[in-house]
Amino acid sequence: MKLFIDTGSVAEVEEIAQWGILAGATTNPSLLAKAEGDAGEAIKKIAEIVQGPTSAEVVSEDPGRMVEEGIAVRELHEHVIVKVPFGPAGLQATAKLRELGHPVNMTLVFSAAQAILAAEAGATYISSFLGRLDDIGIDSIATLHDVVEAVAENSTGAQVLAASLRNPLHAIKAAQVGADISTVPYKVLKQMLNHPLTTSGNDQFAKDWASKPELQVWMDGLVDASKK
Ligand code: E4P
Repeated sequence: MKLFIDTGSVAEVEEIAQWGILAGATTNPSLLAKAEGDAGEAIKKIAEIVQGPTSAEVVSEDPGRMVEEGIAVRELHEHVIVKVPFGPAGLQATAKLRELGHPVNMTLVFSAAQAILAAEAGATYISSFLGRLDDIGIDSIATLHDVVEAVAENSTGAQVLAASLRNPLHAIKAAQVGADISTVPYKVLKQMLNHPLTTSGNDQFAKDWASKPELQVWMDGLVDASKK
């Protein structure tokens, strides 16, 4: 499963990209409204840093205008993917954008039935939301599983993108049920790093190593020799 970062913050992308784990990014109107500065510049910088698919969402409710907005955001950067909200207008805009050669990430998908429609309209990515389903007491992972199976049956080549992740367990479960991608918020990516046994293990290694100073002399000599 590939990992995208779900953010409108260039600083967050800069930090996490250094881990070497990012294959892309997703933004949405709410995330961009929270971020500082020009939205277009942020999307361009994020796409440049991740060097992979970077979703930028259209905001009109009119299908024709959605297509115009999609074409416009595509001009921001070669890696920009047009994010289109699910619904009749979104499906219509997706089919037109696809016909014009623009890849679409269909967002706000909450059921396998919606995913089938999104795939048939030509979406390249189908964003299946987890956290917002859990919030209303619906099993988001069972729904994601249904979406994965339905989209695989459709053979349109669409990829399932798990979105609205709220915790590391969402990422684990998304991988286990076969999502192609998870888009993960900065906070959850940081939570995924942590385990108390990793922290205590590193502390113990450092303490034991420091107790025998000749070991560090040996390591420094080894590094120096490897540079010659
Ligand atoms: C990403 O593509 C979605 O817009 C995002 O994951 C939604 O997350 P939220 O439900 O936490 O707002």
